[in-house]
Amino acid sequence: MEDVLTLGIESSCDETSVAVVKNGREVLSNIIDTQIPIHEKYGGVVPEIASRNHIEAISRVTKLALEKAGVSFKDIDAITPTYGPGLVGALLVGLSYAKALSYALDKPLVGVNHIQGHIAANYITYKELEPPFICMMMSGGNTQIVNVKGYTEFEVLGKTRDDAIGEAFDKVARVVGLGYPGGPKVDKLAKEGIPEYDLPKTHFDNLDFSFSGIKTAVINLNHNTPNLNKANLCASFEKAVTEELIENIKKVMELPDINTKTIALAGGVSANSYIRKEFLKLEDEGYKIYMPDLKLCTDNAAMIASAGYYNYISGKRDALDLNAIPNLKLN
Ligand code: KG4
Repeated sequence: MEDVLTLGIESSCDETSVAVVKNGREVLSNIIDTQIPIHEKYGGVVPEIASRNHIEAISRVTKLALEKAGVSFKDIDAITPTYGPGLVGALLVGLSYAKALSYALDKPLVGVNHIQGHIAANYITYKELEPPFICMMMSGGNTQIVNVKGYTEFEVLGKTRDDAIGEAFDKVARVVGLGYPGGPKVDKLAKEGIPEYDLPKTHFDNLDFSFSGIKTAVINLNHNTPNLNKANLCASFEKAVTEELIENIKKVMELPDINTKTIALAGGVSANSYIRKEFLKLEDEGYKIYMPDLKLCTDNAAMIASAGYYNYISGKRDALDLNAIPNLKLN
């Protein structure tokens, strides 16, 4: 079979990223232009500012991605942009740019679900990984357990009923005064603490999660405890949310119709060092754990180009009226 090059385009939140990936697994380039310093002073992503910055960056980032990969537009087989979920204005920039390229170059347009992209980050890190497997998907906007039945076939088994786990990390960081983006800062400070505070966990009969109770308990403790140790609070928060994740993952792995021992992590929060360490311990119980390289955990276009490749070879093609869908679901 001939090599297939996909051009991934990602602009769903605060990273403008373009990548060239060969056959879904080999990254020829992955340029990430982050807006974090721009949004830092507001304590979070300002959607309108994100859209404007994507517009300014997109052509430059695309040019760099092609240059770095040593290819030109004519070598690309498919244009594969994220079309959801995400901030609608931000998504529209990458998607419109992709549609213009598809039209002008007469190349197929193949839309990618951003969550599918996060899952595909594992295919880049582990060349041998193939479905089926169970994915613990944890990002700033989503938290769900996905049964990855095939490269383009997914079943969501459980999800958060309120906050995404990344949102909870960011909120905890803000409450204890660490600033944005909070996840990496909580991760760092927690390493200096011990989990001395007992935080309430939610137990549902099914495979859903809830993180708002833990978040509120952190806020209340922070307000009401004199001389509170912030490192210990961060460590306690990480421990409580990780226990929830692992409890549900174990329930999934014991379901009678799950015939895999493989668990992959995905999404920005899968960069968390405590969560990675605790999931790795499951290998002692006979599970195989995969987790993306740190630089592929957070938003990037290489993962989108990888998922785009699998959509392309499965025959998916989109028309030029493909729209951005802010709350796009996996299945
Ligand atoms: O996947 P991502 O880059 O964007 C979405 O698609 O949502 O995830 C961003 C989230 C943010 O909430 C950020 O605080 C969190 O991932 N994050 C982390 C870490 N690195 C990023 N959370 C905990 N520990 C980290 N090391």
